[in-house]
Amino acid sequence: GAAAATARAHPNIALVKYWGKRDEELMLPAAGSLSLTLDAFATTTELRLDPDAAEDRFELNGEPQSGERLSRVSRFLDLVRERAGSPLRAVVRSRNEAPTGAGLASSASGFAALATAASAVYGLPQDPASLSRLARRGSGSAARSIVPGVAVWHAGDGDDSSFAEAVDAPELAMVIVTVDERQKAVSSREAMRLSARTSPFYAGWVTSTEESLAEMLQACRERDFTRIGRITESHALRMHAVIQSSEPPVRYLSPTSIAVFDAVVALRERGVEAYSTADAGPNVAVLVRPGDAPAVAEALAGFGRVRAVGAGPGAALLPADAA
Ligand code: DP6
Repeated sequence: GAAAATARAHPNIALVKYWGKRDEELMLPAAGSLSLTLDAFATTTELRLDPDAAEDRFELNGEPQSGERLSRVSRFLDLVRERAGSPLRAVVRSRNEAPTGAGLASSASGFAALATAASAVYGLPQDPASLSRLARRGSGSAARSIVPGVAVWHAGDGDDSSFAEAVDAPELAMVIVTVDERQKAVSSREAMRLSARTSPFYAGWVTSTEESLAEMLQACRERDFTRIGRITESHALRMHAVIQSSEPPVRYLSPTSIAVFDAVVALRERGVEAYSTADAGPNVAVLVRPGDAPAVAEALAGFGRVRAVGAGPGAALLPADAA
């Protein structure tokens, strides 16, 4: 590879959620999941080898990082170096287009971009399945941000078979409702560990997720938007139920988040097909047909900042001079 490369990737929102790992070291999920990669809030990451350095450096939005943020990047690069047989350290500079704290400045776009840039520079395989497997090691959901549009991440039966790939689906859009800009109190990594260890519902969550995924894949094949939406909303509520049932309990949804879920139900009663989901935070993503996005965004504007987004591209290298 060259001494430097720049890659760009977008966050994704899961319609069938990933919540729990069966192998923490290899980052293998307890069940498969399915998501929509967005066409907004991209992360652009430049990785440059630094032959003289003894440590990696990581800069995010112009700010040098230390502590856990830096060590997560550095541990990821250790894995890359081990595979590449290279001792070289790197300077990683990332820019995130998501407003900070919107819950969209995600580790998914971050590790998808980093895996893509690092594979180019360190000379690792650059086919999408390999990139997805590698991105997974940084953050599980990053495996899906390698892929454009709708992606299924296979639980697999080991490292080799646990990667994401594209799924044929109808055109989908989302209205992102940012109800709270603050950072979440408990990271998804911590909270999913807690759910797996303490929730009495966890085993049922894992088996029902596999069923939801099979149904979702069928609904995508049949281009059945209504069914896709129904599965999305009930699956999200199930995930939050499991999260709330852990000990100590964790609750990500705020009263305003619940109000958005209710407003979306009311929209459906008026004939607008919209369905809610939410990740490990209070912000709500509302799944719609692209043509309904402007009206739904307008209807939900009273709950927070709204932004209509569509299906986005997979992770990609940028031309050498674009950094
Ligand atoms: C609620 O991928 O951030 O967004 O693998 O530990 O890095 P790690 O967790 P992460 O968890 C995402 C959780 C979720 C659901 C989803 O995206 O499927």
